[in-house]
Amino acid sequence: MKKFLTVFLMVTWTIFAQKFEKLALTPPMGWEGWNKFGCNTNEELIKKMADAMVASGMKDVGYQYIIIDDCWEGERDSLGFIHPDPNRFPSGIKAIADYVHSKGLKLGIYSDAGWKTCEERPGSRGYEFQDAIKYAEWGVDFLKYDWCNTKGLNAEEAYLTMRNALYAAKRPVVFSICEWGKNKPWEWAKDVGHLWRTAPDITPCFDCIVDHGSWEAWGIMQIIDREVGLRIYSGPDHWNDPDMLEVGNGMSVNEDRAHFSMWCMLAAPLIAGNDLSNMTDETKEILTNKEVISVDQDSLGIQGFRYSEEDGLEIWFKPLKDDNWAVCFLNRTTNPIDINFAWREHRIVDSVFNKVADFKTTTYKIRDLWVKKDIGRTNKDFTEVVPAHDVVMLRLSPIK
Ligand code: GLA
Repeated sequence: MKKFLTVFLMVTWTIFAQKFEKLALTPPMGWEGWNKFGCNTNEELIKKMADAMVASGMKDVGYQYIIIDDCWEGERDSLGFIHPDPNRFPSGIKAIADYVHSKGLKLGIYSDAGWKTCEERPGSRGYEFQDAIKYAEWGVDFLKYDWCNTKGLNAEEAYLTMRNALYAAKRPVVFSICEWGKNKPWEWAKDVGHLWRTAPDITPCFDCIVDHGSWEAWGIMQIIDREVGLRIYSGPDHWNDPDMLEVGNGMSVNEDRAHFSMWCMLAAPLIAGNDLSNMTDETKEILTNKEVISVDQDSLGIQGFRYSEEDGLEIWFKPLKDDNWAVCFLNRTTNPIDINFAWREHRIVDSVFNKVADFKTTTYKIRDLWVKKDIGRTNKDFTEVVPAHDVVMLRLSPIK
């Protein structure tokens, strides 16, 4: 009878379980250490990054989540509950969560749908409900859930199990699906998670693929190309995630600017991946450019699209609220490119989201989002030079 009751409760719970809604109406913004620090995580680092997120002004422009990546995990106890690695997190995760919350920020944590994480720590397979209880107890607000060591598992089912576990634990958690786009999560994850990775791990290289033998890391251009065609799946509370940012991790300032601009054009989650306590002025300026961030955080939540590509120059458009548009001229080449764009010869049609910019019938004011100046109107041709591996990014507002 007891067994029957347990099964009955589990089945009913699963029927009524759902994803926590409205936790990510705009793409989540935060910091995660993997790109810069890899497995070298510990409580001092996490606290330092929370301090730096506030001191650098990043919190003021919308960054919110401080996310602990892999390697925080210690052992499971005799009951199966997970504990943090006592050398790295001696104060425990609850203490870190309290610290992060005291700064007005939120805490994220990492686990894996398989038996082990990518760094061979205990994964959540078979312990999903127990792990979710712990996260809730600790005060976790965000979970990145990876896909290593999952041989034989069905991705949709595995992510659903953790979604249900989080829901059962009753603490609202943003659920970040990280299976690198292998099982086309855009087709099934809208009601499972709030964001899903679309591509393999990013690497701080503008245009290359780094072959690690059993896996590849992709540069900025490769990831952008992967996003083409996926915009129909993305929107408020369910975002395509092209991976964490590499701004400040070794590319040139031009490349960092192009990378950041394009993530905003793609309505991507903006999860900084650099050392926030030691940033150059240029890195800080890129990560905190409010006008560029407002393109990413626009309430319509429409992912931009590639309008044209010719000889390494791409033009991307993104519909914004109030009939505004963001435009990004992306120079993929290693030479500067002169642009001369005759607005009135173009009619931009977004047939998926039903938006049109007709420059013959409507004139728009043009604002350069990196120069931070109004620079004219669309009734005149636009001439500009786009430096190598860089962008010119504009906001257009209709003149009524
Ligand atoms: C995978 C993920 C990365 C990072 C590492 C940690 O590669 O895609 O973002 O979380 O695992 O081991």
